[in-house]
Amino acid sequence: MSRTVYVNGAYLPEEQATVSIFDRSFLMADGVYEVTSVLDGKLIDFDGHLARLERSLNELDIPKPEAFDDLLAIHRELVARNEISDGMIYLQVSRGSAGDRDFVFPDPEVVKPTLVLFTQSKPGLAESPAAKSGIKVISIEDIRWGRRDIKTVQLLYPSMGKMMAKKAGADDAWMIEDGFVTEGTSNNAYIVKNNTIITRALSNDILHGITRAAVLRFAKEAQMDVEERSFTIDEAKAADEAFITSASTFVMPVVSIDGVTLGEGVPGRVAPRLREIYLEESRKAAI
Ligand code: PDD
Repeated sequence: MSRTVYVNGAYLPEEQATVSIFDRSFLMADGVYEVTSVLDGKLIDFDGHLARLERSLNELDIPKPEAFDDLLAIHRELVARNEISDGMIYLQVSRGSAGDRDFVFPDPEVVKPTLVLFTQSKPGLAESPAAKSGIKVISIEDIRWGRRDIKTVQLLYPSMGKMMAKKAGADDAWMIEDGFVTEGTSNNAYIVKNNTIITRALSNDILHGITRAAVLRFAKEAQMDVEERSFTIDEAKAADEAFITSASTFVMPVVSIDGVTLGEGVPGRVAPRLREIYLEESRKAAI
């Protein structure tokens, strides 16, 4: 079935939706995005994603799309039109098309941003078998730019990282800078040692995950110990547990790092419990 997607004010069948070849997201990766998950037809952490979108736009001086205040309604309309029960909504805003290629930003009074949204249906998203078995990660060098707090569409290196993982028989990669883990290719990274949850503190080095914020809040509410600090890959390999968080994976246990098995090689106690709490609370708060 063809999806209905949204492009600059219009709901269209995906085959009819087009963006200019001069769009700056196409030529310069000059755009930002958000991924919001949908469970039972409702949006998870929508307000957090909207707030981060606004921040990403501000940091890059990309004007807010005219429809910014209608984004909740647009998300809901796409969920309804595409009959999404479980899945994701992808949203992208680019600086638009100046009708030519030029490094200099176009005048925001003249060139309007491009706004695109589409759905991805993933029935049973929250019941992923990987959450039961855990995933394997490898470590790779983090060679991305220095503003990883901005959710830009520059995803070539994260894609390469996933390919390196696949080639090594793993599921994903954690990136290392100056010996310390920054984050996963498309998720935040955590370890658990002696029942303490350890994850890198927020800075420009990592994306400020919306799932991360919620999970840390729930962990603290459940009286779990949380330390926001950097950890090395060796510390991770010696950890009791590890896991990742993102809008599309929620909380996902990691059972092997660079071929080193963590604990018994199956998800431990903390990550599955956090996943359970996160899913329960997020479903309750979904809009
Ligand atoms: N990725 N770190 C990076 C580099 C990410 O790309 C993501 C999200 C996260 C987790 O953020 P959040 O919890 O807000 O989803 C951390 C999305 C899911 C993606 O690119 O598909």
